[in-house]
Amino acid sequence: MKTRDHGRLLGKLAEEYERRFPESSRLHQQALKTLIDGGSHNLRLIDPFPPRIRDARGARITVEDGQSILDFWQGHHANILGHNPAVITEALRDAFAAGRGLQTGFVEQLQSETAEVLCSRTGMERVRFTTSGSLATMYSILLSRAYTGRDRVMKIGGGWHGAQPWGLVGIEYHNGKNHFQFSDTEGLPVAIEEEVVVTRFNDTQMLADHFRRYGSELACFILEPFIGAGGGIPADREYLQTARDLCQKNGTILIFDEVIAGFRFHAGILGQLYGVQPDLVTLAKIIGGGMPLAAVAGRRDILELASHSGHVRFSGGTYSGHPACLLAAKSMLTYLSENEKSVYPYIGKLAFRIRETVEKAFAAVGIYARCTGTGGGTLPQSSISTVVFPYDPDHLCKGPEDTLNPHVCDVQLANRVVQLALLLEDVHVIHGLGSICTAHCEADIAEVETAYGRAAERIKASL
Ligand SMILES: Cc1ncc(COP(=O)(O)O)c(C=O)c1O
Repeated sequence: MKTRDHGRLLGKLAEEYERRFPESSRLHQQALKTLIDGGSHNLRLIDPFPPRIRDARGARITVEDGQSILDFWQGHHANILGHNPAVITEALRDAFAAGRGLQTGFVEQLQSETAEVLCSRTGMERVRFTTSGSLATMYSILLSRAYTGRDRVMKIGGGWHGAQPWGLVGIEYHNGKNHFQFSDTEGLPVAIEEEVVVTRFNDTQMLADHFRRYGSELACFILEPFIGAGGGIPADREYLQTARDLCQKNGTILIFDEVIAGFRFHAGILGQLYGVQPDLVTLAKIIGGGMPLAAVAGRRDILELASHSGHVRFSGGTYSGHPACLLAAKSMLTYLSENEKSVYPYIGKLAFRIRETVEKAFAAVGIYARCTGTGGGTLPQSSISTVVFPYDPDHLCKGPEDTLNPHVCDVQLANRVVQLALLLEDVHVIHGLGSICTAHCEADIAEVETAYGRAAERIKASL
């Protein structure tokens, strides 16, 4: 089966990158003395070394080497208003000046104010806050297992729900028959690996088969209605409706992991745009306004298991309900609710133009590239995208089984080559592109055109 190896090109790009970012290279060597691989999040630790950032404003970051870089990573897709937007930084500045902000260990009114906005925008009955998306998905699974008295957890192969026990199964593509039915970490109890049932995104038939086989044992089905790390692909409407029906019939809790999707496509959850209500939804990224805040929201009867009279330890967390995070969250959620009619059409339209520009840049040199992010019959204004390079232009990429399969798509090109080639043009992307924020503007399109055009020519010359 077809695959391409871009080793030589990557080597050449890395040499040029070293020359262009010498200070970042020096600081990376320094960091290696105390930090594993020089940092604390693998995705940020670009090979051969990451650009070291000095400051970040709006659409751009400035690095220690002096370059100003147009950024489409935007804080792991969290910064829908760009880096350090005034609506958040001014609220935090005023709070700190008034003696509010760091953890106190008490409950302040901000917590219920933020919960009120969240519940009213998402249609969820109750919410509990925590500090990361990983913890939110873990708690949502604990709640489901306790509520149903069942053990099995169903997830999507290639779906990322953070580094928590059940989320660490079925992430990476493996050659063989069941591409994702494996644990992707050492140190995980075998029981957890065995409890996780992996199914295929947007495959209604497989979903029905799995429910026939495991339905009475499934505590929950956790999925992203817009799969992020698995290829930036929206679920088909029929798929989500089937998931809802099958969960209902089998007494299985339906969890939408909207850590990426929540407040990305409108000021609420994506489930609302599909007309499909999950039992629980997990939220983080955008809702934190650039601060570490996450939430599990959903049915009161399930979340009540976390109460004093319940038996699920969705508790603890010295920094959970952190005042500064809640303030950032409330400011962000309020801003997005009040400006929904301008924010989402703006980033949606700009993203459409950028996708078009990227695809054209590759087409101009005879490379077929497709930007993901739209489709599913329900996402007219998607502001998030990856780039995939299917070997067969007619191949529909419906989920991670396609986008992460190196025999279907040129995965190395999309993930590593494009990123390094674009950094040489002062543009930073993730999985080929990333997310568009309100700080991006029309003028960025010309920059995108030039940068992708030059990167595409360089790639073409090496094929
Ligand atoms: C869909 C999804 N769920 C959960 C997580 C984990 O969130 P966090 O990184 O805040 O722990 C992520 C992180 O990227 C994610 O994309």
